[in-house]
Amino acid sequence: MVGVSFPRSRGLYPLDPSMQDDASIRAPFSVSFEHRVFFTRGAFEPANSLLADCLDPTRDLADAVGGAAAEARVAFVLDAGLVNKRPSLPDEAVAYAEAHEAVRLAHPPMVVPGGEIAKNEPTILQSVLQMIETSHLCRRSYLIAVGGGALLDLAGYAASIAHRGIRLVRLPSTTLAQDDSGVGVKNGINAFGKKNFLGAFAVPHAVINDADLLATLSARDWRSGFSEAVKVALVKDAGFFEQIERAAASIAERDAEAAQLIIRRSAELHLRHITEGGDPFELTEARPLDFGHWSAHKLEQLSGYELRHGEAVAIGVALDSVYSSLAGDLTAPEADRVLAVLRALGFELDHPLLDDPRLLDGLEEFREHLGGGLTISLLNSIGDARDAHEIDPAVVRLAIERLRGTTRA
Ligand SMILES: NC(=O)c1ccc[n+]([C@@H]2O[C@H](COP(=O)([O-])OP(=O)(O)OC[C@H]3O[C@@H](n4cnc5c(N)ncnc54)[C@H](O)[C@@H]3O)[C@@H](O)[C@H]2O)c1
Ligand SMILES: [Zn+2]
Repeated sequence: MVGVSFPRSRGLYPLDPSMQDDASIRAPFSVSFEHRVFFTRGAFEPANSLLADCLDPTRDLADAVGGAAAEARVAFVLDAGLVNKRPSLPDEAVAYAEAHEAVRLAHPPMVVPGGEIAKNEPTILQSVLQMIETSHLCRRSYLIAVGGGALLDLAGYAASIAHRGIRLVRLPSTTLAQDDSGVGVKNGINAFGKKNFLGAFAVPHAVINDADLLATLSARDWRSGFSEAVKVALVKDAGFFEQIERAAASIAERDAEAAQLIIRRSAELHLRHITEGGDPFELTEARPLDFGHWSAHKLEQLSGYELRHGEAVAIGVALDSVYSSLAGDLTAPEADRVLAVLRALGFELDHPLLDDPRLLDGLEEFREHLGGGLTISLLNSIGDARDAHEIDPAVVRLAIERLRGTTRA
């Protein structure tokens, strides 16, 4: 064998196979996961056993010694925005645990601020970690997070780092969290002024999408999730895009049944991408589910998080669709359909921050966050995306002008 030989005593791990000698140990391994997303209504009604059934009871040492029945130790983290609108929720969680003997509350339900502040304010993370510590949750216990995407990202991050990972059950309470973020395997908080700078990939123990949790959403948070549905349709499924076109007006009028069909299909497409796309932990550069997100993340940040993620995604998806048509792939009428469906859902596609020269910094920040070379998804056609490795700032500016022209027409 040609090459450097590594000293046996140090046990070094050569990266180049030609450098391998007898001292090297290589042992590829794989770990199998099951990603479970359930759909229900009234998840906190005592008669609904779905949540309890999701928990695997484990006998902790004290139980084993005392011979008590196996129980799951759980702690709830609830989104304050949701609790403000549904003040009975903490009591409902307690009553649910009391009604299911296999569910043992390790701590009274904890209510923490929802929205982006949950990811921006480090003391909130600290308080969740503190609760995990004082209630002695272990790797076989459950953190049950109920809230919007931001609260779920925060709680998921806390769960993923406490004891290097305690079990997480998510009950997403916004349309965006039910049709996209809550279904994912990413958790994280913002730091150093950058979105999701700290985070971890971790597969949740279970996700429960309770349609009734959406009843209290504001108009803008109701709307926000559907830009992610449009996004996933654009990169994966032309038929689904047409379905959203047909449902858009009903969804804008808050037709819960029409919305459920879209939320469910969007969640399924996101889940299938994770479980079948071959790259659940995003080791490669291609990131189709981040279509429209390079500018969206920057717009959110530049707006001081006044813009909701879903609102920024609507603008970003519109921008990259127009860019795709200017770059010669997507046809102009197809780009117009994208803008039309977003507007029919009620999204505003213009924003003063589109003029901010810092917008283009979003490209480099996006590249750095994902690693490797710049890889941006663009559309060949509705339902078919491709990777682009260069974005022309002049064409971005032209796309913004076109977007403006169309928006204001
Ligand atoms: N982890 C991922 O893969 C992933 C993917 C997409 C987005 N995200 C993240 O998700 C976040 C956005 O999530 P979001 O759109 O759900 O918004 P959000 O979590 O910011 O919530 C918006 C507002 O709605 C309130 N709220 C939540 N549920 C409610 C309910 N049922 N009734 C009334 N008010 C309620 C919240 O308190 C908050 O004020 C962003 O931080 C984004 O980066 C994460
Ligand atoms: Zn998103």
